[in-house]
Amino acid sequence: MPERLRGFRDFYPEDQEIRREIFDTMRDECRKFGFREVDGPSIESVDLYAHKSGEEIMAQMFNFMDKGGREVTLVPEFTPTLARMVASRKDLIKPLKWYTLAKFWRYEEPQSGRFREFYQLNADILGSDSLHADVEVLNLAGSIMKSLGLGSKVKLKISSRSLLEDIIKYLNIEKKDTLYYLLDRWVKINEKDKENLIGELGISKEKLESIITGKIINELKSSNLDRLMKIMDEFNEYGTIKIELDLKIVRGLAYYTSTVFEIWDLEEKMRAIMGGGRYDNIISQMNGDYTPAVGFGMGDAVVENLLKREGLWYEKDKRRVFISIADDKGRKYSYYVSKMFRENGIITDVNVTERNLGKQIEYAAKMGFKYSIILGEREFSNKNVSIRDLITGEQWSMSLEEAINKLKNS
Ligand code: HAM
Repeated sequence: MPERLRGFRDFYPEDQEIRREIFDTMRDECRKFGFREVDGPSIESVDLYAHKSGEEIMAQMFNFMDKGGREVTLVPEFTPTLARMVASRKDLIKPLKWYTLAKFWRYEEPQSGRFREFYQLNADILGSDSLHADVEVLNLAGSIMKSLGLGSKVKLKISSRSLLEDIIKYLNIEKKDTLYYLLDRWVKINEKDKENLIGELGISKEKLESIITGKIINELKSSNLDRLMKIMDEFNEYGTIKIELDLKIVRGLAYYTSTVFEIWDLEEKMRAIMGGGRYDNIISQMNGDYTPAVGFGMGDAVVENLLKREGLWYEKDKRRVFISIADDKGRKYSYYVSKMFRENGIITDVNVTERNLGKQIEYAAKMGFKYSIILGEREFSNKNVSIRDLITGEQWSMSLEEAINKLKNS
């Protein structure tokens, strides 16, 4: 038996159909917010990520030499591609609101909620440095959570790298990287390592704790803090999901300049569902034009885990009707009937085997169809259909029109 590669997934219909509905919900919300769909290549030059994404992503790339001797990679994230797309078109009218839902690849250790190939929705606003752009992308993320039925199960955690810079200055911290590391891993590292790292920072444990708990902001006067507070206030005004300030959110990617945020399950038992922030410099590094941007990436894997945990992972789009065929006249008639059903938007499957009628109906019931239409010589001559409820076993004759109405409304 050939084996599947580690960190990759097969999607069988029972899960794929739910996945499609979830992706449809994500896309619908983006469109409702006025975002327009874009897409990019699956392979990019490795250079695109150097100095932008940061060491972690560089180490996780699925890179290889192509036949022309170029060092290329399967795309690990969308942001650098998006920046390249915007940087190379000076004619674009700003601000842009763009989204994409695509596959990305990272050679990381597979674990719950993390794969080597995953889908990620990206939604970004490019060309506005106003805090209202931050609020808009956050409202979109919150609305997606709400539409998926997860509104009360998740929270948005927000911070700001420029605010953290103010704190670093205020406390005279020289080892900025150590502080970032400590904040990022706070729940993961042991007490002894914590003590050592705090020692390196040259600040008291109490001061560090005031950063961890967020209390430090009461001592601080900073326009970056005011901006963050305004973003939180306006986010609450729209009101989708819970939001909290968490200075431990620093994010792994190198390009963020100020606002940074993540969505987590309330108990923080899973991995981050979504992550993003403001990145004001990438595009100008490419074309010299100041094009501030803010956006997020939302993966499919943790959303799936959470929906499953909450019992919300089920097919809403039950397959509607299966046409069973009794004889040759029934087969001929089935082309007309199935076409009429499909033209009326009814999901219609039809027997494609030589099985007898009993076996066809048995198959339809096992496959989870609620109704089977039965077509034979009698239905053909009477110009009607027989319809069987596969759950109760009841069966009726009715006109095609009546059957269409019944199926459309069931
Ligand atoms: P990121 O934090 O690397 O940010 O990824 C964002 C989200 O993508 C994560 O919270 C997670 O849901 C999902 N994700 C990431 N890696 C994996 C994986 N290996 N398996 C499954 N899901 C994963 C970015 O990618 C930024 N480019 C997002 C962004 C857009 N920032 C601004 N605009």
